Amino acid sequence: MEKIVIEGGRKLRGEVNISGSKNSALPILAAAILSSDESIIENVPQLRDIITMLKILKELGARAHQEGHTVIIKPGNNLSPVAPYKLVSTMRASVCLLGPLVGRLKKAEVSMPGGCIIGARPIDLHLKGLEALGVHIVIEHGYVKAKVKKLHGAEIYLGGPFGSSVLATANVMMAAVLAEGVTRIESAASEPELVDLANFLNSMGAKVRGAGSHLIEIEGVQKLHGTRYKVIPDRIEAGTFMVASVLTRGNVRLRNMIPEHNNALMDKLREAGAELETNGSACRVMYRNGLKPVDVTTLPYPGFPTDLQAQMMSLMTVTPGISVITEKIYPDRFMHISELNRMGSRIHLEGSSAIVAGVKKLSGAPVMASDLRASAALVLAGLVAEGRADIHRVYHLDRGYEHIEDKLEALGAKIWREKE
Ligand code: EPU
Repeated sequence: MEKIVIEGGRKLRGEVNISGSKNSALPILAAAILSSDESIIENVPQLRDIITMLKILKELGARAHQEGHTVIIKPGNNLSPVAPYKLVSTMRASVCLLGPLVGRLKKAEVSMPGGCIIGARPIDLHLKGLEALGVHIVIEHGYVKAKVKKLHGAEIYLGGPFGSSVLATANVMMAAVLAEGVTRIESAASEPELVDLANFLNSMGAKVRGAGSHLIEIEGVQKLHGTRYKVIPDRIEAGTFMVASVLTRGNVRLRNMIPEHNNALMDKLREAGAELETNGSACRVMYRNGLKPVDVTTLPYPGFPTDLQAQMMSLMTVTPGISVITEKIYPDRFMHISELNRMGSRIHLEGSSAIVAGVKKLSGAPVMASDLRASAALVLAGLVAEGRADIHRVYHLDRGYEHIEDKLEALGAKIWREKE
């Protein structure tokens, strides 16, 4: 096991390159099995979740490997429909294999992903969407077992109690591309990662229209072919560096990002008093004297992303005044609060809202990472805390942030990795 150690108090300055999007790459890698041909996927970040997805694809019988940031995948003609528990249980996103397996093989056996630290995370919408396409589904011995003779297009309403679902929309889209007839997904998720997935599928010969809106139309085709495709930049990694720049009173220029994917965050950072300048695929984020507290509510895209809630909370811990951060996607995603409070913050929880009273200073402490984005929030807090912060269970960070300590060190942070 490893930990990250930070000696806080340094302003971040300089330029940072944003990596490819984890949450785009994962469903895109899964979608590649919709054809037997080879596909080449570029700008894939080197992360533990990507390694897990490649392992699962190999377990299914595909040839897949990553060279630098390029993944070469050749699914071939002998795919197995079974995604086993031992791999699926390590990464919830493996549920996005259901759609492509059903599309390609008309059969899938994917281990039930179960809950996770950020909440219950049911998959009812995934199953409802696939059933509407004619798929027969049973849950047996911890597996979702799906089969269908012939997929047919359908009208599907995919809204759930917490709004739209990103991976349920992805699953239905991936199965529907090979269905007979037209599928209309209403109340579809509109996240940029779904636009990326639709563009990838269309580059394989699919006919998907409307991705990025709440109505997606898919005209089924007989067959898809291999492709070459470049994954979009990671808006959550970009957002994390934006917050880091303001928090450390720094001045950081982010390169290779898509600024408009971060409009909700940029709006809040400006409201808090930061200065942001965008220029094509770059954005400079500058601290300006005197930050103000801002209230934030997480919502499906284009609202404020739940995946940046914890990082924004770190910023508010040292912003004078009171801010209220409300979580509307995962009402229990607040594991970072108790750890931040160990570093001297003053946060208390009222239902699914965190009330943050800004303090003058945080103080470095040993803290425990509980999930990916909570870990990022603790790293950010460590960057401004007085003294040394040891962030344990760093493997959570390695799931979703490529070389985070190298990138932060290059911006001037005093940060390193140690064996436990
Ligand atoms: N939901 C249901 N039923 C379902 C599916 C979802 O009620 O069948 C609920 C969820 O419990 C949640 C809400 O709908 O309350 C939204 O969840 P969604 O399905 O959109 O989440 P996801 O697709 O499983 C992706 C990202 C998450 C990110 C969420 C929300 C990937 C691989 N994961 O998950 O990313 O938080 O969308 O934006 O794309 C992360 O990267 O750290 C991460 C957790």
